[in-house]
Amino acid sequence: MNITVLTLFPEMFTALNHSIVARAQEEKRIELNYVNFRDYSTNRHGRVDDSPYGGGAGMLLTPQPVFDAIAALPEANRRIIALTPTGRRFDQRLAEEWSTETELVFLCGHYEGFDQRIHDELVTDEVSLGDFVLTGGELAAMTMIDATVRLLPDVLGKAASHEDDSFSTGLLEYPHYTRPADFRGLVVPDVLLSGNHARIETWRREQALKRTLERRPDLLEQADLSETDRRYLQSISGLSND
Ligand code: ADE
Repeated sequence: MNITVLTLFPEMFTALNHSIVARAQEEKRIELNYVNFRDYSTNRHGRVDDSPYGGGAGMLLTPQPVFDAIAALPEANRRIIALTPTGRRFDQRLAEEWSTETELVFLCGHYEGFDQRIHDELVTDEVSLGDFVLTGGELAAMTMIDATVRLLPDVLGKAASHEDDSFSTGLLEYPHYTRPADFRGLVVPDVLLSGNHARIETWRREQALKRTLERRPDLLEQADLSETDRRYLQSISGLSND
């Protein structure tokens, strides 16, 4: 997968030179390229922003540097993703979709955002990290790149599968414990020490359901639930109403 980031602050992306994303680069599973679109500005001061027509606060990124920076990229079947709080909200499903692509281009905004013609003519996806406003798209792009790259084949390795991740199953993940079984009187649930895999599976499923009901009940509407799941949820939501 080739990932190109158009940004005014390429030096921010050193966060991706660590851990799993760094290894994915070393192993050539991904190639990350950065383009500072200020380098494409035809303005003699390298300006990339201007005030909005119609008035109002803040500055906008002008079309010329972004159009020319994108025109200079190699032609490819690619998605051009603009980071903006007005976009569709990023989630695990979108990361899964992107992980099947070969070319992703991230366009990081600053100031009040982009001139609308950039969105209309260049961008294929407008995506937001969440319902809050950042100072720029860089942190959002890094987050989305990280979430996408870890889903690529062989990036996580066998020991750290992502199939049970929160959201992959439509539910939040169940709690995990490791050694020791008794840490200063804080004990691991008995069932996990029982060696009974069927009981452990049931316990994990119930914990995932309980956690999702308590923290993200909205996810239950989309989740793939069995009759047993529904009965369990009914039993605990009955209890919590007492
Ligand atoms: N730029 C500013 N705020 C943002 C957000 N929430 N998501 C993506 N890009 C942004």
